[in-house]
Amino acid sequence: MKLDIAVLSGDGIGPEVTAQAIKALEAIGHAFDHTFIFKEALVGATAIDKTGDPLPEETLQLCVDTDAVLFGAIGDPKYDNDPSAPVRPEQGLLKLRKELGLYANIRPVKAYPTQLDKSPLKREIIEGTDISIYRELTGGIYFGKKHLSEDGELASDLCEYSRAEIERIAHQAFKAAEKRRNKLTLVDKANVLESSRLWRKVVKEIAYEYPEVALDFLFVDNAAMQMILNPSQFDVILTENMFGDIISDEASVIGGSIGLLASASVGDTCCMFEPIHGSYPQATGKGIANPIAAILSASMLLEHFDLLEEANLINSAVEKALELNVTTPDINTINPLTTEKVGDFIADYILNPKDTNLNF
Ligand code: IPM
Ligand code: MN
Repeated sequence: MKLDIAVLSGDGIGPEVTAQAIKALEAIGHAFDHTFIFKEALVGATAIDKTGDPLPEETLQLCVDTDAVLFGAIGDPKYDNDPSAPVRPEQGLLKLRKELGLYANIRPVKAYPTQLDKSPLKREIIEGTDISIYRELTGGIYFGKKHLSEDGELASDLCEYSRAEIERIAHQAFKAAEKRRNKLTLVDKANVLESSRLWRKVVKEIAYEYPEVALDFLFVDNAAMQMILNPSQFDVILTENMFGDIISDEASVIGGSIGLLASASVGDTCCMFEPIHGSYPQATGKGIANPIAAILSASMLLEHFDLLEEANLINSAVEKALELNVTTPDINTINPLTTEKVGDFIADYILNPKDTNLNF
């Protein structure tokens, strides 16, 4: 297979971890005779510094023209505490999601058997956890009308959802549940929010088309509690944009590090793959960032194109790295390896999965 892949490595540790994901994909290309052509473009604070725009037109065009986007991270502390900044790096990512129509953000959360003691949560609680979060990504409060009064003393953000926006991601989540353990939990705040009541109504109606899938509902506050009390109860979680943002960061605690969580953002025509972590500016250039989330995002890219054996090989390489403690300081405090060494190990494993004497 030949794939053109836009690489938007972005800010902070983005370029370091994305380089390891590319290395893994190149190893896959070599092992399975695929051609991956990587085309880089600017996004985020790096793009603002060079062009004044967090998503330059040519970056967007490249993403539209390629088969998939591999995204690193965005964000720079110089914008975080400046409410009056005219442009922000995050606008680049949000515009990209909107323009590419990436309405479904899939975030898998797993408790790896070898990492059960790395989580601050007890092993008995997290054991067996395997969740797929379906977060709506192009609607809700992120994209609703914003208002700031002239005197700057009153501000609002509108949370709005249409039936069509709910339906399209709900179908994807139900289909995913059918392929997994046939359970879907809608997380909302239907006791308070009108938009959540619409989610419930629409999702209940769609459920008739998926009779095998058991549907239940949780208010988001309770879901946040259940996520750390009893996470293995969940199979597929479906939720709106902001609730999904929050509970997926919370869920990352289960795996032991947010540096392990990958994501896929898909729409009807485009797809993008990115780690869920941010740009981790304090770690930039130190070689301490965990590349696994970026590498697993590359695996999700392969899965998206039905290259399942290839995706599984990346997953096995990651599991081997975790098992042998070939990991960065976020999960390995005793004998940590650098971002690059972890990436090298994973690429070597992909090229020689049977070689048990991997050099690292
Ligand atoms: C994420 C991030 C983004 C979001 C930010 C960077 C805009 O936190 O992908 O989860 O809130 O969606
Ligand atoms: Mn987030």
